[in-house]
Amino acid sequence: MKIHSKIKDYSVDMIEDLLNKKEEVFSGIKYGRLFYFVDADVYKIYEEELKHFIADDFCLVIEAEETKKEYANLVNYYKALIDNRFTRNDILVTIGGGILQDISGFIASTLYRGIRWIFFPTTLLAQADSCIGSKTSINFGDSKNLIGSFYPPDRILIDTSFNETLTDEYFNSGLGEIIKFHLMSDDDGYKLLQKYLESPDLRHGDIFKDIIWSTLKIKKSYFSEDEFDAGRRNLLNYGHCFGHALESASNFEVCHGEAVLVGMGFANLLSLKRGIMTAEKYEEFEEIFRRYYPEFDLSGIDVQDIIYYLKRDKKRVGKDLTMILSEDIGKQTKFDDITEKEIAKVFGEFIQNFKKGAHDDV
Ligand SMILES: NC(=O)c1ccc[n+]([C@@H]2O[C@H](COP(=O)([O-])OP(=O)(O)OC[C@H]3O[C@@H](n4cnc5c(N)ncnc54)[C@H](O)[C@@H]3O)[C@@H](O)[C@H]2O)c1
Ligand SMILES: [Zn+2]
Repeated sequence: MKIHSKIKDYSVDMIEDLLNKKEEVFSGIKYGRLFYFVDADVYKIYEEELKHFIADDFCLVIEAEETKKEYANLVNYYKALIDNRFTRNDILVTIGGGILQDISGFIASTLYRGIRWIFFPTTLLAQADSCIGSKTSINFGDSKNLIGSFYPPDRILIDTSFNETLTDEYFNSGLGEIIKFHLMSDDDGYKLLQKYLESPDLRHGDIFKDIIWSTLKIKKSYFSEDEFDAGRRNLLNYGHCFGHALESASNFEVCHGEAVLVGMGFANLLSLKRGIMTAEKYEEFEEIFRRYYPEFDLSGIDVQDIIYYLKRDKKRVGKDLTMILSEDIGKQTKFDDITEKEIAKVFGEFIQNFKKGAHDDV
């Protein structure tokens, strides 16, 4: 897949057995040296192959923790590259999930005003979603993703076999985003999603590759005309307004994609209450979400905390709250007139449904 970007065009490809194909990966590219940033868990699990792949090149192993994405911590990464004489001829290669991507993207966009950067995403979320779209995000104090830039990698190579070693929690996190994108596509996209979710082994097979590819295509269709998030791309926040608030209110016990699933469930219930979504559609989508909702006790969350975080949402305009509501597949709309009272009322009902349905049929 070729992606046109106002910053630089880039490509995404699927590849098998990536860690045994160094020559193929870098053939045709001129460079001085390679510098690697590698996720610590990935390094441990794939140590043998990685040692062989990286050989004598520079390598910094980084733990995938939100604190590592903290602004004050960035100095360590600049220092590692500068002290080891990174030049404009060299390439930064990142192997990891969204955290390593955000760190590397920001460093790559700012060091020498922009360096070459190749990304091998290793989580489902990074492979199917975050690897494209050019966003890089850095945390500031306790505020997540407050600082950032738009800077895509030059090249993205996806080896789906990395997903075999992901925990169920992080696999489901990626699934949450995959489900969201397909609910924002069309009937064919929805059918593919249903076929995929019924497949016997979600981490393997051709359909696994198909669903990742299809997710990237849907995402591309949303940002290709709106790379800098001024209009249509905003709709991709479906599930994210409530989802981000839940991540924060749960002290990040609920991981991103799982919070997005809950966020879509909440947005759908609000859509039902406003008469935007039919009860039939609501049940149909809820049945899908229920299979992957996190094992998290939502009744421990104070709705005032949710409202507090919704008020701090970057997308909010005006005095009321903002949320993306949904009518059906591919029919989402941004509303800026959601009231606190409405949130509190729907939250009460949502918790009751969540308790009743969440794990009955898993
Ligand atoms: N820039 C963007 O567009 C964008 C979009 C969405 C999310 N994000 C950011 O991405 C981060 C979340 O990223 P994520 O969900 O990819 O997870 P992550 O990078 O936090 O990694 C999750 C966990 O899985 C481990 N891991 C990674 N690959 C593995 C593998 N193949 N096998 C076993 N373990 C593996 C990591 O060490 C970590 O413990 C958040 O900080 C979020 O803000 C960025
Ligand atoms: Zn997301």
